[in-house]
Amino acid sequence: MKLLLVFSSLLFTLQLCSGEWCYESQLSCKANCSGPSDWKSLFSDCGGQRQSPINIITSKVIQNPNLTAFVFEGYEDVFNMSVENHGQSAHFSLPESARVRGGGLPGKYKAVQFHLHWGVDGGVGSEHSVDGERYPMELHVVNIKENYNDLKDALNDSTGVAALAFFFELSSSKNQKLDAIIEALKKVKQKGDSSEIENFRLVDFIPRACNLSYYRYSGSLTTPGCNQAVEWTVFHQTLPISKNQLQSMDKLLLFGTDKPMTGIFRPVQNLNGRTVYTYLPAHSLCVLPNAITLLLCLFCLVEQYSSFQ
Ligand SMILES: *[C@@H]1O[C@H](CO)[C@@H](O)[C@H](O)[C@H]1NC(C)=O
Ligand SMILES: *[C@@H]1O[C@H](CO)[C@@H](O)[C@H](O)[C@H]1NC(C)=O
Ligand SMILES: *[C@@H]1O[C@H](CO)[C@@H](O)[C@H](O)[C@H]1NC(C)=O
Ligand SMILES: *[C@@H]1O[C@H](CO)[C@@H](O)[C@H](O)[C@H]1NC(C)=O
Ligand SMILES: *[C@@H]1O[C@H](CO)[C@@H](O)[C@H](O)[C@H]1NC(C)=O
Ligand SMILES: [Zn+2]
Repeated sequence: MKLLLVFSSLLFTLQLCSGEWCYESQLSCKANCSGPSDWKSLFSDCGGQRQSPINIITSKVIQNPNLTAFVFEGYEDVFNMSVENHGQSAHFSLPESARVRGGGLPGKYKAVQFHLHWGVDGGVGSEHSVDGERYPMELHVVNIKENYNDLKDALNDSTGVAALAFFFELSSSKNQKLDAIIEALKKVKQKGDSSEIENFRLVDFIPRACNLSYYRYSGSLTTPGCNQAVEWTVFHQTLPISKNQLQSMDKLLLFGTDKPMTGIFRPVQNLNGRTVYTYLPAHSLCVLPNAITLLLCLFCLVEQYSSFQ
């Protein structure tokens, strides 16, 4: 009987000690949370077979002729963007008018939000890695198939979510496009805080789609529930960030626990036999693709017309 009591109180303590999910960086002797290796005990999908992030091994990547260039729509529109500290990251809300198509995706997807993953004091903080190499920071733009109302609906579809990832790479000069982002983060220090960036345009932050090469694989959300509903695109092109900017990022926010929000990334997961594909543009498609198409069409018409003569 006594033994049973001891046993059940031990179980009870274990339960208490894994109250919520947290990042590796939040674990400590008295931490009351489950780190990445224990997420699967709280959310079974986190132990699944197509988890993210992954390490991309470039020598095993396969060029897939079904993949095409991306088209970003509404990325030139001006909007007021709200930002909120969600306790494990800050989300920048995007309007539905921002859409992505092409890119070998099964349909058109509308934007939901973007967020960043960073490390500790300017160290590596990306989630994905390439040939074992990690980057200082990673941007995720989360999109859902346009027929769904919200992320929750999209997560019930194995290709319901299209996540776009860009790595940041250290540059000698600062990236002025990040100024507005950094200023906004300063205003959402505590979990639940929100603020707004006025007159934001995605095109000022994200490169043009036309000549972007990328990696593609099927995976999951990188935070619990780890739903296996994500078509991942990891772009080859990186975005610049200066050492000063990077070192300021991880000091701006607090976790829900009032500790500095650092090391917000999940370690890489097993591939489990998945293939990573790549798309490499044959030509730079940046020179007014519509004008070229128009010219080609005219040419075809003229050809056809003259063959009738
Ligand atoms: C641990 O977390 C759980 C759930 O969040 C909470 O109910 C419990 O009070 C916490 N325990 C301690 C010792 O902080
Ligand atoms: C390309 O698409 C075709 C038709 O859907 C499919 O049969 C083929 O396996 C795809 N190729 C690759 C490399 O995925
Ligand atoms: C953004 O907010 C400002 C100030 O509240 C407002 O004047 C402006 O019209 C808003 N812009 C858009 C595109 O909604
Ligand atoms: C999830 O999708 C299945 C079919 O794939 C459907 O039967 C079910 O109702 C959906 N669940 C929700 C919550 O939308
Ligand atoms: C794409 O084109 C832009 C200019 O239009 C150039 O700055 C950039 O380096 C190109 N990216 C790649 C991956 O070729
Ligand atoms: Zn993310």
